[in-house]
Amino acid sequence: MRTMRDTTPMKIGCHDPMRNIFYINLSDGRDFVMYQPRKKDRGGQKKAWKQISDDNKRRYRRANYMDVGLYDMNERCKFPLYKGEVPGMMPLSVEVDERIVGFCDFFFRYGEDFPNFNVDPEDKIGNASIVALDKYQGIGVGHYFSLLTEFIARHYECQWILGVTFPTGGTWRIRRKHGWETIGRQGKIIYHRKRL
Ligand SMILES: CC(C)(COP(=O)(O)OP(=O)(O)OC[C@H]1O[C@@H](n2cnc3c(N)ncnc32)[C@H](O)[C@@H]1OP(=O)(O)O)[C@@H](O)C(=O)NCCC(=O)NCCS
Repeated sequence: MRTMRDTTPMKIGCHDPMRNIFYINLSDGRDFVMYQPRKKDRGGQKKAWKQISDDNKRRYRRANYMDVGLYDMNERCKFPLYKGEVPGMMPLSVEVDERIVGFCDFFFRYGEDFPNFNVDPEDKIGNASIVALDKYQGIGVGHYFSLLTEFIARHYECQWILGVTFPTGGTWRIRRKHGWETIGRQGKIIYHRKRL
């Protein structure tokens, strides 16, 4: 797949709120899409999941430090459509050019569940972790993931998007470029946040 690093976002939006399909139109004509998978998507999801190394899966799982992520592709595809509830969870598949390039777990909670982040207890919080397929690392998936998850958190009326990530490997650097504030560090874990 061609890199997306030389592209810019042209338009960002929700294509279908009844199916949780979110997109960014890229300047080269492609679309970066995040959507909640359905039963019919199971085969493709399983195939894509197998193309991620154990190490990258481990990082993805560890980033879900509070909630247990959904790593079974059958369960992901049967999961009820997320409609804005708190607590809530939305499993998402990430696609470019109709090819799966990654996975995302998006959690919604109240601030009271995030004592390390210095946010109001009643604020609605979005928290997303991602993994890109090994062969699609370094071509812009993380960059556009960061932009689109902010949009999704706003779409669901979150006041904050929060993250727990690692000092090496991309997400922290990418999000700092997108205006995230680092608020703490414990060993190899970084806490950061952005007001929406
Ligand atoms: C974390 C992860 C998603 C990073 O994504 P990635 O797709 O490899 O990263 P990108 O290609 O988007 O970014 C690489 C660089 O290009 C830049 N970039 C990419 N596309 C760009 C664009 N269109 N415009 C400007 N800059 C861009 C990024 O800012 C980044 O810059 P840097 O070199 O200064 O860090 C990926 O490495 C991964 O899946 N890791 C394993 C799981 C994991 O660690 N998850 C983190 C838990 S949240």
